[in-house]
Amino acid sequence: MSDSGMSATTNPTWLMLGASSAVARAFAREAASHGAGILLAGRDMDDLERQAADLAIRHGVPAAPVPFDARDLGSHRAFAEDCAARAGGPLNVFLAFGVMPDQAEADADPDAAAAMVEANFTGAVTVLAALAPVLEAQGQGTVVALGSVAGDRGRKRNYTYGATKAALLTYLQGYAARLSGAGVKVLCIKAGPVDTGMTWPLPKLPFMASPPAFARAAWARAAKGGGDAYIPGIWWPVMTIIRHIPTRVFNRLNI
Ligand SMILES: NC(=O)c1ccc[n+]([C@@H]2O[C@H](COP(=O)([O-])OP(=O)(O)OC[C@H]3O[C@@H](n4cnc5c(N)ncnc54)[C@H](OP(=O)(O)O)[C@@H]3O)[C@@H](O)[C@H]2O)c1
Repeated sequence: MSDSGMSATTNPTWLMLGASSAVARAFAREAASHGAGILLAGRDMDDLERQAADLAIRHGVPAAPVPFDARDLGSHRAFAEDCAARAGGPLNVFLAFGVMPDQAEADADPDAAAAMVEANFTGAVTVLAALAPVLEAQGQGTVVALGSVAGDRGRKRNYTYGATKAALLTYLQGYAARLSGAGVKVLCIKAGPVDTGMTWPLPKLPFMASPPAFARAAWARAAKGGGDAYIPGIWWPVMTIIRHIPTRVFNRLNI
């Protein structure tokens, strides 16, 4: 049964930020199948209520929805405290919110570009900063955040989005260093294309992962510790090549 709060549990609770994301949804199932409690944070409360009920029935774990808007920056400190209180045990964090409008839209409309930066980066910074004292106080925990291969090198087709993911990676590296003394692991996943609503409008992409396969790989990688990792792993050699293409050649490519 889903709870309006979470019952006390010694198992960790995964706080899913952007819980309606197809990737977060699959990761929540993976975590619940391992006995973790789940807090589903996002904007679509009807969806989150349904997900919570489904997780509780399928896996017998406590699961509850929590309202969360990444762009409501001033709400993040109270949100973090509320989540810590609801979890009643150690909290882990899965950060999955994000938007990816067309590059053309970001170029033409300053509001669209600023909204993307705020949703993908500023909101991540403020919510992670608000969660840091909670993680430090509990002296353990795992933070997994979804970066992107798009952050490895600015490409013609999505450099504004890519820049938000590069900034997120840099932030997470320092965040990991800050929290390492408290026993908290921080993992940035450089995700390749995943078959979700975000990629649905795009032409067929190479090495596309399904959300469940991606979530299983993310779960396994998180168990090994923090740092950064390409998922699927094929993107490590691909991005190594792409990063080393000379600029003169790279600028002529339509990628
Ligand atoms: N799919 C890919 O190929 C791919 C590749 C690399 C990285 N990623 C990253 O993976 C993450 C998950 O994406 P996805 O593929 O699962 O796409 P998705 O299904 O479109 O999920 C994105 C989620 O972000 C949420 N979101 C957007 N703005 C928000 C805000 N202001 N406050 C709270 N939530 C907000 C959306 O919530 P609403 O339902 O409320 O709109 C949605 O649930 C994203 O960070 C994305 O950048 C995806």
